[in-house]
Amino acid sequence: MTGFREMADDDVDATVQLWRDCGLTRPWNDPYKDISFARDGGCSAILVCETGGRIAATVMVGHDGHRGMLYYVAVAPTFQRQGLGRSAVRAAEAWLGARGVWKVNLLVRAENAAVKGFYESLGYEVNPVLCMARKIQNP
Ligand SMILES: CC(C)(COP(=O)(O)OP(=O)(O)OC[C@H]1O[C@@H](n2cnc3c(N)ncnc32)[C@H](O)[C@@H]1OP(=O)(O)O)[C@@H](O)C(=O)NCCC(=O)NCCS
Repeated sequence: MTGFREMADDDVDATVQLWRDCGLTRPWNDPYKDISFARDGGCSAILVCETGGRIAATVMVGHDGHRGMLYYVAVAPTFQRQGLGRSAVRAAEAWLGARGVWKVNLLVRAENAAVKGFYESLGYEVNPVLCMARKIQNP
């Protein structure tokens, strides 16, 4: 498996650029804040993989004491279809498994449904659940 490690301070800008290149950022969501929040939390991390001195793949992983979650699964466009996405997901699963988490959930935006085949090839299946959400005020 390709080597993933927890991201460092020096990786932040390159990671945000990678997420932008992969179309994962949204105007209403500050990726820098997402990174700080995940890195500061005791139950979450951002794993990155370097290839040729640059960040080529990322995954944000965390758990809520019950289930694991994956976010920002991303491979730089020039490195896609070489197995890095698979390695990112497996690295996140290993991170969760080491903490006793035995099931992982993830969300795929409706407009990104093409990526469903990627997760299916890794053994993921669509669960018959509705995802409901509500924004709450920042404390
Ligand atoms: C989705 C993504 C992470 C896949 O990364 P990748 O490195 O190209 O994937 P891999 O090379 O590890 O592919 C693993 C398997 O998934 C398949 N696969 C990859 N992308 C796929 C796609 N878009 N649709 C269907 N299958 C796909 C591969 O064929 C491979 O199958 P195989 O092992 O049977 O050959 C990458 O395309 C990406 O960063 N996309 C933009 C960001 C994104 O949409 N992330 C997901 C958010 S939910």
